[in-house]
Amino acid sequence: MKKAFITGISGQDGSYLSEFLLQKGYEVHGMIRRSSLETRTRIDHLYQDPHVSGRRFFLYYGDMTDSSCIFQLLNKIQPNEIYNLAAQSHVRISFENPEYTANVDAMGTIRLLEAIRTLRLDKTTKFYQASTSELFGRAKKMPQNEKTPFCPRSPYAAAKIYSYWITVNYREAYNIFATNGILFNHESPRRGDSFVTKKIVQNVADIYYNKANTLYLGNLDVSRDWGYAPDYVESMWKILQYEKPEDFVIATGETNTVRDFVEKAFKYVNIEIEWQGKGIDEIGIDKKTGKIIVKIDPWYFRPTEVDILVGDASKAKKLIGWEPKVKYEELIKIMMEDALKTRRL
Ligand code: NAP
Ligand code: GDD
Repeated sequence: MKKAFITGISGQDGSYLSEFLLQKGYEVHGMIRRSSLETRTRIDHLYQDPHVSGRRFFLYYGDMTDSSCIFQLLNKIQPNEIYNLAAQSHVRISFENPEYTANVDAMGTIRLLEAIRTLRLDKTTKFYQASTSELFGRAKKMPQNEKTPFCPRSPYAAAKIYSYWITVNYREAYNIFATNGILFNHESPRRGDSFVTKKIVQNVADIYYNKANTLYLGNLDVSRDWGYAPDYVESMWKILQYEKPEDFVIATGETNTVRDFVEKAFKYVNIEIEWQGKGIDEIGIDKKTGKIIVKIDPWYFRPTEVDILVGDASKAKKLIGWEPKVKYEELIKIMMEDALKTRRL
């Protein structure tokens, strides 16, 4: 039975990846952080009591900032595959907490790679690094592929670029099967509440149920290549099954604005938006009732923004046979259906 070790197992991707690997027959080991409340809702359904025999899902306390615990865990588990998904993953918050973001998102990766090297796991353990389309930042080329130069635009992206290159370096220097998945934005009902898609669908549902009046947003005109998280975790596994360690862009190839996402989410509940005004004074009005339902809050602007991202995943299609199944409109439907169900209560 293959053993996988997942950092960030309690996050959106960690939870879907755990389900995927358990279904493939893996033993799944994951690192979680201690917190005063045990809120691991994304993986509660996978939890198995330690006293049950034959279990295949194991959780350990640890932290990406604590190298001794990372060494101990890898030594104990001796995994065949490591998926490094743990991160302070919010771009806006990385401007508030740049040093912490670097410690987790950059230094955390070298702690794992050094553990693989010094514990001599290099022949037996494959390593996946959760790299990101944020590396492309202010990209000059559309769409972005594995050869597009990087131009990071946030402390988050700057930390992730270190992790990208140190993964490449450990592959070249020590022959470790170390790979990067350069994933474009991927969303789901399990997305964190403060990311824009989840925030939009939850607020639209609340406005529809008369539980809220206004959705406050930042920049409406940025574009993202939004895919569906369960499709994307499959690519992580496929990257590690490829005959040699390489880096892959994973994306849908379609880009849409935040404004379009807002319009389509409201349309799902038969609310048509009319935009009025410009810049921070722009508002979105419910055409039928005349009520203001969208306003701009400059707090959500970023000191430096990534205006547009769109990926070219043709290498992944050709070499590992990966293609997205869920496209943009269906993604909105999935997320709206879930928001309408969960916000009704
Ligand atoms: P997420 O939902 O924010 O999950 C992040 C995970 O990292 C959570 O389990 C979190 O634990 C854990 N974590 C944070 N700081 C930690 C620390 N100091 N020590 C140990 N664990 C820590 O992120 P996601 O959307 O699943 O993304 C997974 C990875 O892919 C991240 O590295 C992200 O940067 C990257 N990525 C995401 C996307 C995307 O669109 N989703 C695209 C490209 C790359 P808690 O539950 O305790 O907070
Ligand atoms: N979060 C948020 N909240 N974003 C907003 C808002 C708002 O109220 N209003 C506009 N936006 C814009 C942001 O400025 C950004 O350009 C875009 O919506 C998407 O923001 P997020 O959903 O926060 O995602 P992100 O693209 O910054 O980062 C996500 O994707 C990256 C991959 O490209 C995260 O998952 C990163 O971890 C990931 O690497």
